[in-house]
Amino acid sequence: MPDQPILKFCQVSLRFGDTWALRDICFTLRPGETRVIFGAAGSGKTTLLKAAIGLATVSSGKIELFGESVVDRNETELFPLRSRAGFVFQEGGLFDSLSVGENVEYPLLNRQMMGNQAALTEANVVNPVREALRFVELEKTFDKFPSEISGGMRRRVGIARAIVTEPPLVLYDSPTAGLDPITANTIMALIAKERDVRNSASLIVTHRYQDGEIMADFFYDPEIEGLVPVVETGTEQKKTRTRFMVMKEGRIVFFGTRPEMEANQDSYVKRFIRHEE
Ligand SMILES: Nc1ncnc2c1ncn2[C@@H]1O[C@H](COP(=O)(O)OP(=O)(O)OP(=O)(O)O)[C@@H](O)[C@H]1O
Ligand SMILES: [Mg+2]
Repeated sequence: MPDQPILKFCQVSLRFGDTWALRDICFTLRPGETRVIFGAAGSGKTTLLKAAIGLATVSSGKIELFGESVVDRNETELFPLRSRAGFVFQEGGLFDSLSVGENVEYPLLNRQMMGNQAALTEANVVNPVREALRFVELEKTFDKFPSEISGGMRRRVGIARAIVTEPPLVLYDSPTAGLDPITANTIMALIAKERDVRNSASLIVTHRYQDGEIMADFFYDPEIEGLVPVVETGTEQKKTRTRFMVMKEGRIVFFGTRPEMEANQDSYVKRFIRHEE
């Protein structure tokens, strides 16, 4: 039996005044699956991620997150649902006045405030925080402030904060934007590792085609503690779990595998494919 969907959009449209930010969006995401979202500035990518966790209110259509409806809930009702998803914001979104450790701890305290978790003692907060920071290889920055670390490190802290609660779904908004290619690849390797270690579902907005290639063509091998190409190991099953989506003016104008995207002849879709120099 296939896994139950983690996230489901059905005919979702969303309007800001006269602008349709989303139009008739439909897709399903299951555990371990990845959707890589490309599209021009203003095509609705961030709005789609926000709508998924009820941070943007849809005009029509249905969204189900963890099997529960998002669209007809008020803020209070959304809170517990939202806290089960991880979100890496487009601009990083770290709190400047909190240390790295406090930033990563934040979602855990937030979850506790909802009252349905066991009381968090010092021991069981610090451990997940340290573990999440170890995961992104930044354990030593625990007591530093965001202004004291590099842009790439801040992105990694953002990832640590998004995954500290071990969410079944992680939404990444442009996690590699503005980073040099090497740092960007490091970030993507962490995102693939997070997906493969925990079989979490990921929705990734990016402008870099290479980010999609990494998600589609590599998986994390715990034996070597690194990424290995999907093809060489013949794990066809893993390979088919990444799909590319291209958005244009609020619509999904392409949905398919990496080879399907590369075979697509539409001039708009082609803009997002990396062409060898
Ligand atoms: N809070 C808002 N109020 C009004 N209009 C908005 C709001 N948020 C987004 N929009 C509009 O909705 C459309 C989609 O915006 P969105 O931020 O989703 O684009 P995007 O694809 O994430 O772009 P970028 O690549 O620049 O991040 C745009 O026309 C934008 O101006
Ligand atoms: Mg955006």
